[in-house]
Amino acid sequence: MFITFEGIDGCGKSTQITIFEAMLKDKGISAVITQEPGGTRIGEAIRKILLDVDNTQLTPLTELFLYEADRAQHVSEVIKPALEAGTWVISDRYYDATTVYQGVGLQGYEGLIEQLNLEACSHITPELTFLLDCPAEIGLSRIEERGRNHTETDRFDRKTLDFHTKIRYGYLALAGKHEERFTIIDATLSREQVAINIGEAISPYL
Ligand code: TYD
Repeated sequence: MFITFEGIDGCGKSTQITIFEAMLKDKGISAVITQEPGGTRIGEAIRKILLDVDNTQLTPLTELFLYEADRAQHVSEVIKPALEAGTWVISDRYYDATTVYQGVGLQGYEGLIEQLNLEACSHITPELTFLLDCPAEIGLSRIEERGRNHTETDRFDRKTLDFHTKIRYGYLALAGKHEERFTIIDATLSREQVAINIGEAISPYL
């Protein structure tokens, strides 16, 4: 089983993935938990380039190729072998993130993005994608809160409310196109309620 979590920055994916992993464990299912960008040693190096606040000169195409390079490595090193071994894989972001995030900066390149996504992922599609949906204002305020605690922001955290709003609606449009695998979760609810809703959505697969 291959499950991905998507959503705007600050939607609460990381917290929910941790709770989800524990819930699966309770049911006797061990899963590989992984993320993009990152998830491999080479991917971690690519992630550093992508999130470095000093890399203001990164062009939108360079950014696209770096995400796809990260994904190609991630799929071949982590996702494909785990799925072939029959292990569940939970990924914090996958190619939907590229469709939506890079799609905002690269209008007119939708065909190229789709083609690169397919090649990079070896045509491995998630069976289930949880979209944690909340208004950009809420996501950004959670990031600010986190920033105050950790004094840490990345290149994306610095983008505007307008950018994050576009990402939110980009994800919702994508979910509408792929209803067969997307489950939209209201991420404005309490973390406990969000976890319960995710648990209910996964129960038919257990
Ligand atoms: P990260 O710190 O992992 O953020 P989050 O915990 O919110 O996922 O940073 C990942 C950033 O990279 C996030 O802002 C989304 C962006 N991203 C893309 O733009 N394209 C992609 O293909 C992926 C996987 C991520």
